[in-house]
Amino acid sequence: MLRCIDCGGEFQPGAFYRCEKCSGLLDVVPDIEGLKEKVSRELFDSRLGSREFPYGSGIWRFRELIHPLVEDKNIVSRPEGNTNLYSHGKVSEYSGIKDIVLKHEGENPSGSFKDRGMSPGISEAKRLDMGTVACASTGNTSASMAAYASLAGIKSVVFIPEGMIAFGKLSQALAYGAKVLQIKGNFDRAMGLVQESSKELGMYLLNSINPWRIEGQKSIVFELIQQLGWNPPDWIVVPAGNLGNSSAFGKALRELKELGLIDKVPRIASVQAEGANPFYRMWKGEEDVLESVKPETIASAIKIGNPISWKKAMRAIKFSNGVVEEVSDQEIMDAKAIIDASGIGCEPASAASVAGAKKLLDAGVIDGKEKVACIITGNILKDPDATINYHLGKLEGIQPKFSNKPVVIDADLESVRKAVSG
Ligand SMILES: Cc1ncc(COP(=O)(O)O)c(C=O)c1O
Ligand SMILES: [Zn+2]
Repeated sequence: MLRCIDCGGEFQPGAFYRCEKCSGLLDVVPDIEGLKEKVSRELFDSRLGSREFPYGSGIWRFRELIHPLVEDKNIVSRPEGNTNLYSHGKVSEYSGIKDIVLKHEGENPSGSFKDRGMSPGISEAKRLDMGTVACASTGNTSASMAAYASLAGIKSVVFIPEGMIAFGKLSQALAYGAKVLQIKGNFDRAMGLVQESSKELGMYLLNSINPWRIEGQKSIVFELIQQLGWNPPDWIVVPAGNLGNSSAFGKALRELKELGLIDKVPRIASVQAEGANPFYRMWKGEEDVLESVKPETIASAIKIGNPISWKKAMRAIKFSNGVVEEVSDQEIMDAKAIIDASGIGCEPASAASVAGAKKLLDAGVIDGKEKVACIITGNILKDPDATINYHLGKLEGIQPKFSNKPVVIDADLESVRKAVSG
């Protein structure tokens, strides 16, 4: 069942994304009492490494908590999830947090966490027999949707802000076979347009306004806590753009707590880029309503001025006694350089998590003895331009503090000796 977060109106799932009475966002409502009988830590642990479809997936392992209505024949899975946790001395030293782990969602099939929501989203499109799916995207959603739609034999249409998405992502959407519409406007305009046109043209909308996307993204938290032996960290720090993940994390934690699968609720820290910080402003100013901004940041995946899920995300922050932080492009690119040089690697937006954790430690909000899990949302290969231009010192307004420039040398042994020993 779906329930409106504003008026409480209830609906059976279908091809709509807002409350038919008041236009509020919709939640999937789990049957907590029924689930208590069915799920346990032992059940989820028994499915780890399973070869039985669909339990090998890090989403569908938690099937009862993700999409209990969908039958095996409609599940589209690659399989996704099962992403690793990393810790590294360089990241600890840089952030000042000894026990900091990075969960690398860039290890998903299309290179970002979006696959977590897309698998149940496309499965629902199949269940509803939709012939075309659509999304607006800063890049990763379109890459993921295009891949899953092609896998399922469904047509896909993506709306992207012209000239504002990283090449790695655009190339994926084209290659996987989506119809790519480059909108002469920013992400927020593309988001408005896709909502209007999907209704008009009968396309199934797969942005995170779609509640099944949020259901799938809950599995990041389920899997993280399972990997930690069901001992939650003190903090989960997540980059924040359209606020789908922040919303999903709050819902996941509430459900785990209500089901008795965790004793303690970690605090969520949502981290925005300074130039695209409407949620931070709202939280800091203790406002009741989000005011949009004109977004500007090098982290194109979180370059969003009017995040759609702000109400759900605020609910998540309040439920988890969380915080919202902002970080500059300089802080993002420096944190990225440290994550990269640790051999882990990520795209710029992902590094907002580590940059935010460092800033929260410096401000005394996070204690250096606490356990902190940072979500790395996307793969390093998504945006090679940002990485190369940082190391070459070509990013306007950014000092490449940790740059690693290539060295041009003459083609002889002596030059090699000098360069290597130097
Ligand atoms: C790599 C990456 N990080 C972070 C985000 C922001 O996530 P959310 O919109 O759920 O806040 C996105 C969304 O596009 C992304 O692609
Ligand atoms: Zn409503």
